[in-house]
Amino acid sequence: MSTRRDFMGMALGGFTAVGAIGGLYAAKRTWDPLPSVKAAGSTIIDLSEAKEGEPMTEKWRGKPIFVLKKTADMPAHERDVVVDGARYHVSIALCTHLGCIPAYKKADQTFFCACHGGVFDTSGINLPGLPPPSPLEIPPFAIEGNTLVLGSEGPEYLEMKKNNLIV
Ligand code: FES
Repeated sequence: MSTRRDFMGMALGGFTAVGAIGGLYAAKRTWDPLPSVKAAGSTIIDLSEAKEGEPMTEKWRGKPIFVLKKTADMPAHERDVVVDGARYHVSIALCTHLGCIPAYKKADQTFFCACHGGVFDTSGINLPGLPPPSPLEIPPFAIEGNTLVLGSEGPEYLEMKKNNLIV
């Protein structure tokens, strides 16, 4: 008798466990963002299209992004993103003073903010004595082959973050 009761108890426990696992799996599938939502958080930039000295303006999560492939005469900086031996300046193209969008001045090799005269060099560093209080911000990025994936925190980005170079 007790053997039958044991068997019934174990069977019921087993059904309950399977049901609970199934419920958790269904809940996880419901909570996980859809692939389309995950993809919306990333921007993939093909660096093979970059021309030296001519910034590309991309968009990531509604924000403008500068990607400038540096020429040999532009100073190297620890904020540079190095891909296949080439140096890139990558930043969120919003002035750190009050958020205007700076424009690249090729002749001066600077990003100039017309709102209040802020100036950033080709590494996104704000020139002293002007309104912007800090460098242009570097967005999260990961390097994948010859592409940049914005919105992903790759090892190079994490290293910059650790060294307080992001802003
Ligand atoms: S918003 Fe750029 S200098 Fe003020």
